[in-house]
This record gives sequence, C-alpha cells and structure tokens, in this order.
Amino acid sequence: MADPPMALPPAFLDELRARTPLPGLIGRKTRLLKSGRNWKGCCPFHGEKTPSFYVYDDHFHCFGCGAHGDAITFVMRAEGAAFPEAVERLAAEAGLDVPKPSPQEAARERRARDLHAVMAAAAEAYHRRLFLPEGRPALDYLLRRGLTEATIRAFMLGWAPSGRGAIAADLRPEDISEEQMLEAGLLRAGEAGDPPRDFFYARVMFPIRDRRGRVIAFGGRILGDGQPKYVNSPETPLFRKRMSLYGLDLAREGAFRGAPVVAVEGYMDVIALHQAGFTGTVAPLGTALTPEQLEELWRLNPEPVLCFDGDAAGARAAARAAETALPLITTERTLRFATLPAGEDPDTLTARGGRAAFQSVLDAAQPMAEALYGLVAEGRPAATPEQRAALRNRLAGAAGAIPDKALAAEYRRVLLDRFFAASRPAAKGGRPAPRRAARPAITAGPVLAERARMLLAILLRHPWLLAQAEEAVGLLDLPDGPPAQLRAAILAWHGGTERVDSEGLIAHLAQTGLEDAAAWALSPAGLPAAARPEALPGEVDEGFWHFFARLGGESGLREQQQEALTALIETNDPAAELRLKRLSEQLEAVRRGDEAAGTAGDAA
Ligand code: UTP
Ligand code: MN
Repeated sequence: MADPPMALPPAFLDELRARTPLPGLIGRKTRLLKSGRNWKGCCPFHGEKTPSFYVYDDHFHCFGCGAHGDAITFVMRAEGAAFPEAVERLAAEAGLDVPKPSPQEAARERRARDLHAVMAAAAEAYHRRLFLPEGRPALDYLLRRGLTEATIRAFMLGWAPSGRGAIAADLRPEDISEEQMLEAGLLRAGEAGDPPRDFFYARVMFPIRDRRGRVIAFGGRILGDGQPKYVNSPETPLFRKRMSLYGLDLAREGAFRGAPVVAVEGYMDVIALHQAGFTGTVAPLGTALTPEQLEELWRLNPEPVLCFDGDAAGARAAARAAETALPLITTERTLRFATLPAGEDPDTLTARGGRAAFQSVLDAAQPMAEALYGLVAEGRPAATPEQRAALRNRLAGAAGAIPDKALAAEYRRVLLDRFFAASRPAAKGGRPAPRRAARPAITAGPVLAERARMLLAILLRHPWLLAQAEEAVGLLDLPDGPPAQLRAAILAWHGGTERVDSEGLIAHLAQTGLEDAAAWALSPAGLPAAARPEALPGEVDEGFWHFFARLGGESGLREQQQEALTALIETNDPAAELRLKRLSEQLEAVRRGDEAAGTAGDAA
C-alpha cells in the first residue's frame, strides 16, 4: 500500500479502507465466490478463465498477474483514476468527508513520520542493551520465564538501564533532538527547571507496534516484584491507547495463515501464546476492550475469541466486553468467550500444560449468545417474582442492544429459553437448576426421543464412528427405554467385537432381544441422509455430531474436558494429555456438525 502522494491523515485513510468492504467493491467488476474466509474470482486486470484473484479483508492479490493492492489502488487501476479522485469516490460512497490537506496537516504528518523514526531507533537501542552485560539480569529473567531467544527478538524486547540519560545518549548520535524525545514520550519534562528525565529506567521494555509493525509506544516491566508493575508510554501523536492492541502486527500475519484470533489480558500472555503457536493473539493495553479494538479484531476474523480469567474479576471483565460488543455485532461478526481455569493466566497455563492446555480453553469457548446468559444472570439472585422479572428485563435489554432486528429477536429467544429452562426445576423443587453450558435449553420428551433415534440410526449404519465417539456416546443423557437399551447394547458389542460392521451389529442386536428396538431406530420416516448405508464418511460424521449436539452432549464433553485439563495441570501425565486431545477433537467435531445444521436433514 503506497504512501499517499498528498498529505491526507493516515487515520483518515485507515478509516476509509475500513469502511470499504473489498468484496463489495471488487464484486462489481468481477464475480467473486467465497473461498474459506476470503473470496476469489477471475482477475479483472488480465484475461483469465480460472480464478487466481483473491480478495482478503484489507487487500487483493492476483496469483496470475501479480496485481496487488487495497481499495484505493483497486479504484485507481480499475477506473483509471488518480489517487485523489479514487479517494474522493470511495469517501463519497462511505459517507466520509475528505479532509482538506492543509499546510498544518502536512507539517503534522511530517512530524509523525519523524516520530516513527525516533521510536524505531529507541526500540533498537533498548533491544541492544538487553544483550549487553548491563542487560544480563533482564535477559536471564525473560529466559527464566520460558521465552526463547527467537521470541525475544520477534517481540524486540529490551532493557532500559537504571542510569540517567541512557536513551538520550543512545539517540543523540542519530540526530534526534531532546524535543523529539519528549514528544515521543521517551523523556519526561523535569520539574521547575530541572532537565528532562528518562521516562523508563530499570525496566524490561516491550515495544508496542501498530498494525503495520511500526513502534508507537512502550510498556516497561519492573524486574521481579514491585509497583507499578508496568509503566506505559503516555499518549503521544503516535500512540492512542484505546486504538492499539499489543501483538496486532504479528497477529494479522497469524490470522492470515489461519490462526484463531484471540484477545487476552497481558503482554506476557500474548508473547507466551505466540511462542506456543497461537499466533493470532493480541491484548489491549491494561484497559477494558474498546469499540475501536473490537473493530480491529473483526478486521482479522468474524468471530474472535475473548479470553478471561476464571475468577470474579474475569467475569466482570467479560460482562463489560459483552456490553461494549452488543451494539456492534451483526450477522457477519460476533465473538466467542473463553474462560481460563481459576488461578491461571495463558502464560502459566501454556508453561504447565503446553499448547494442548490452551487449545482446550479455546475449544470450550462459548458463542456470544450462550455466554451472555451467564454474564447477565451471574451472581444475581432470581428467587422472588421481582428479581425474576428484573432478570428478564435485563436479558431483554441485552438482546435489545443489538442493532440488527432479526438478530436481536434471535438473541431474545435464546436468552428467554435459557431463563425458563433455568427456572423450571426451581418452581418444582425449590432449588435452581444447575447451569448448563450448552443447548438444548428445553427439550420435550418426544423431540428428544426422535433425536436419539436419529443418532442411534446413524450409529447402527456406521458403527465405525465409535472409534472416536464411544466415550461421547456414553456421556449422553438418553431417554429410558429403547434409546438407552440400544446404546448399552451397542457399546457392549463394540467393546467385545473384532469386526466393526453394521450387519454384524444389527445381527447381534437381534440375537440379544433388541430386534424391535433396532427396527424402531431404523424405521425410515424422517431419517437423515447420514443414516443411509451409502452415506459418505464426511456426511456421516457431520450428521452424527449434529445430533449429538442436539441431544445436549456438548455440555457433558465440556465438563469432561475441564476435568481432563485439571488433571493435566496437576499430574502433567501424558495419558491426561491424550485424553484432553481426544475430547478436544470431539468438541471440534460437534462444532462442525453444528455448522452443518440445516444440511443434515434435521427434522427433529
Ligand atoms: P498482568 O498483571 O496480568 O501482567 O496485567 P502480565 O502481562 O501477565 O505480566 P506478568 O506475567 O506479571 O509479567 C495485564 C496487563 O495489564 C497492564 C499491562 O498491559 C499488562 O500486560 N498493566 C498491568 C499495566 O499497564 N500496568 C500495571 O501496573 C499492571
Ligand atoms: Mn502474567
């Protein structure tokens, strides 16, 4: 993306790009088809019959002719427009006014460019000092915390020494003035005529970079314990805290390569997770997530995961994030919420349980609608009619904060379903129902039996599923009678047989007096395609996990997963790790089956 030949503020151009969805713009020139998260089509810039032109969230690229650029470049090339004209056109469509380039604006931009150079030089100076003898304790500290040298270099961590005037001494030879260092927040003005002082001293330095990788600020951590733990750069012409996310430049790259996009709390969490392979991780800078930061996350992924501590403070932070997000979600972009085991942060969790431990936290992330109920209802009694009505009002209010009417209505329905499901046993027995992690909220008897029949029919036709699903099937809450009897018989058979095939299974059931039950399960009316003997394995798999989810199996799996995670952290036992991996795979399969809803022929 070339720098603009006229002095338009970069923030304006960023906003213009953000407000111009590329598929919409480019789709007018060439037909685009969805390709994973992105789009592809035939290149509008060279004649081709098979598509090699890809459209990503913020740029396009043609693997045929090499054409490459953003929304502005696209209009320039496709319309033969000059830069100012392309900007004018896009701005008109996006409903933005193009700021008049003024001399002051031009001067400001020049200064900002200079400040970027100042910050880059400072980051290098701090980084260099980390590897000098004076930086040794800081380097040892980082290594002791499990960071590799490659990670330290990728994040360009540094050391601000305790002596006075170090940064000025480092930057003066580069022709950087004291005034610039003040403006960049590297020095702070002295009081009553004293000379300026270092802003950071005796701290491990974490450069904060913008989405394009330019250093805009620093966080400085004290070595060991002490207060304040971190000191962060002041707001400067380059740094607006509420607009920035730590790790964003690297996370864009990670997200582009398919890593899940995750927001965590701290600098060290971001770094530890990147090192563990979660390269789509970012963190806000010590404050609650702002709308601007959410917008950044959504530029990377339509469904980023927000990760919170498993304690009361974490729940409050999650509730605040949900409140910020509700007015911003649409059918195209939402959030998921993940909860860490109590007392762990992502850094300690990966240090102890490795990649698998955090993966399972991600796998257990709840969709927005599910998490929302808990966040709204959390810690508030709902025993009296007044309290219950107040809770209902709050639930309706949460749904009402969503601008899209249809989506708001769906949320209202899901939340109220949960409300009634949670209160039903309370009406009978006086005790509140245990909170369930997943759907279905209410399932009437006949519907449940019919779903169980679908699942059992798929198993009877495709018992090879049991290799992966045996444990999950055992966890399901199935109705008594034929469903429960069939399950018991199927699992027993699977435990004892050498040949796992449908004919053998059905013959075995007939021998053990379950002929009628099997016939009930296989009676053709309403059976999904996945239960046909000739169904393809992928279809079978999706159909099975779809009905598994419909039967509420997910919450059981999640509980098991939490247990396995706890076991892994406590024992670090390879068996626990294996079990965790298997449960994670099953939850992943449930998710796939869930997405395939609608196509699975779901009558129930
Ligand atoms: P944490 O205390 O969780 O820090 O604060 P951390 O990143 O996990 O660091 P370690 O593991 O103790 O070394 C979370 C975030 O809150 C901000 C920082 O952005 C930090 O990463 N914070 C925290 C501050 O800005 N100032 C502070 O004094 C403390
Ligand atoms: Mn930490």
